[in-house]
Amino acid sequence: MSSESGVSTESLPDIAQQGFGIDVGGSGIKGGIVDLVTGDLVGERFKVLTPQPATPEAVAGGIREVVDHFDWKGPVGVTLPAVITGGVARTAANIDKGWIGTDVYKLLGEQLGDRQLSVLNDADAAGMAEDRYGAGKDYKGVVMLLTFGTGIGSAIMFGGTLIPNTELGHMEVDGKEAEHQASSKVKEDKDMSYTKWAVEVSKVLSAYEALFWPEVFIAGGGISRKSHKWIPHLTNKTPVVPATLLNTAGIVGAAMAVEAGLRP
Ligand code: BGC
Repeated sequence: MSSESGVSTESLPDIAQQGFGIDVGGSGIKGGIVDLVTGDLVGERFKVLTPQPATPEAVAGGIREVVDHFDWKGPVGVTLPAVITGGVARTAANIDKGWIGTDVYKLLGEQLGDRQLSVLNDADAAGMAEDRYGAGKDYKGVVMLLTFGTGIGSAIMFGGTLIPNTELGHMEVDGKEAEHQASSKVKEDKDMSYTKWAVEVSKVLSAYEALFWPEVFIAGGGISRKSHKWIPHLTNKTPVVPATLLNTAGIVGAAMAVEAGLRP
């Protein structure tokens, strides 16, 4: 591309297109600079281990370490495995229960200074990223992302808009919370085959589709890397496709959230 003065602008990085996201999980705090045009990371991601116990103060220190590693001064988006409403964490999955009731903006503001912040649920961030840049990008209807891990995280997107904190992993299906029968942890704990586990996942997806009628389910979480072993065995109606961004989805979605000024 050439500007009118004839000076090439092609090789200049467009800083305005860059964002920053941090994905907090039970084992790691991962962050990186995100190209918001392509949804790719700019350079490598950086990870510190989640401190144990993962108290709000200890995790906030880890978040600061990741931001400092990049010497990033701009807005920061952060995911937590928690419901966030009104800027307060209401639940805490795989992190210290001390998060419940924490004002996450106050806590992070103390570590990161005066800058724009967005804090949102981990699955919600992954859903935003997959919807815009990944497996959901060609769908016009409702896209439902589910992350299969220690629990089941959920995100519902329509026309690029997220309905935050859907928490469908806790929906009761056949008298049991969905994540207690179909998370990948349950598969591991009970040493289930992929085929047997697919029966449980199908039940859960059938219950979700009966209520939400998504156009597609996106399967995320580590187990989506092995999707060829279980997606073909699913018997629910709605198509299920594997996530494509995998371990960057949370980081990318967090960066998108702060770019959009989201404060669920
Ligand atoms: C939590 C969700 C979280 C999901 C994935 C569930 O147990 O309730 O808030 O998104 O796990 O971490």
